[in-house]
Amino acid sequence: MEQQLKELRQHAAEELLHVATVDKLNELRVKYLGKKGSLTSVLRGLGSLTPEERPRVGQVVNEIRTELEQLIDLKNNELKQAELSLRLASEKIDVTLPGRKENLGHKHPLTITLDRIKSIFMQLGFEIAEGPEVEKDYYNFEALNLPKDHPARDMQDSFYITDEILLRTHTSPVQVRTMQNAKPNQPIRIIAPGKVYRRDYDATHSPMFHQVEGLVIGKGISFADLKGTLELFIHQMFGDNVGVRFRPSFFPFTEPSAEVDISCVMCSGKGCRVCKGTGWLEILGSGMVHPRVLEMSNYDPSQVSGFAFGMGVERIAMLIYGIDDLRLFYDNDLRFLRQF
Ligand code: PHE
Repeated sequence: MEQQLKELRQHAAEELLHVATVDKLNELRVKYLGKKGSLTSVLRGLGSLTPEERPRVGQVVNEIRTELEQLIDLKNNELKQAELSLRLASEKIDVTLPGRKENLGHKHPLTITLDRIKSIFMQLGFEIAEGPEVEKDYYNFEALNLPKDHPARDMQDSFYITDEILLRTHTSPVQVRTMQNAKPNQPIRIIAPGKVYRRDYDATHSPMFHQVEGLVIGKGISFADLKGTLELFIHQMFGDNVGVRFRPSFFPFTEPSAEVDISCVMCSGKGCRVCKGTGWLEILGSGMVHPRVLEMSNYDPSQVSGFAFGMGVERIAMLIYGIDDLRLFYDNDLRFLRQF
């Protein structure tokens, strides 16, 4: 039996020399020292020995076990170290490589335009108001002096959800909501930017677009205030040299009403394809708030007056940047967007 043990120790030591991975080493550990391993089976044979032999052989078995355990541990450390060096070498980072550039985005041209519009009016003391995009017929039309079956409703082809609810066709319902939330005859000076919806689709119309509404109400507000405010806005937005023209128009919720044109930014008023030879471009609708509209929202037209205006953000952005197709704003084509 002692001979058998000697051989076993010899074999184990030799095999150990050739082990090249941690996995193989674990297999070896199980093979010799495991529950069903060679050394354990020798131990089981101890029973067949005489009582005198037993302690001596038992001691040899234990010595071999300790020795093998130590050898295996040593080898284990050695292999782990080797694997680590290998990994460190292969996963080496070249710190001299140039870094990857962060791809920084920027604001969408419509947001840039809207931010500029907002900041001009905020300098003038306007506050920003908001309203829902899914709106009641009452706020979108009726309270703006557009009763059911009023022919002027045809100017704004609408998306109805029910007979009484629709996607707002303009930001003007925010005028009504602001007035109805205010105290009686309380002065107002707001702009209301937001999305609006109409059944239109071509190079200059989209079923969803953006407007900025304006509403000013107070004692003695006159058409001169409307003119001064909008002229100042236009000159800040398009430059001091641009011409401004007020042209009589009609909106059911303003009286008198005016459409505001600027001299064509493409041809400086000479006449071209963009201004259809007129030299002028329409950029917003405006007027003095109709007394009926004030009354319907609990304002007293004998005490206060006001003006309102509404402009399309897409249209203004197209004129500022010289864009000829409005649909480009929504295509998310980076070749377009990167230019701003
Ligand atoms: N709501 C009008 C439109 O969308 C614009 C407008 C607003 C006109 C306020 C006058 C006053 O066409």
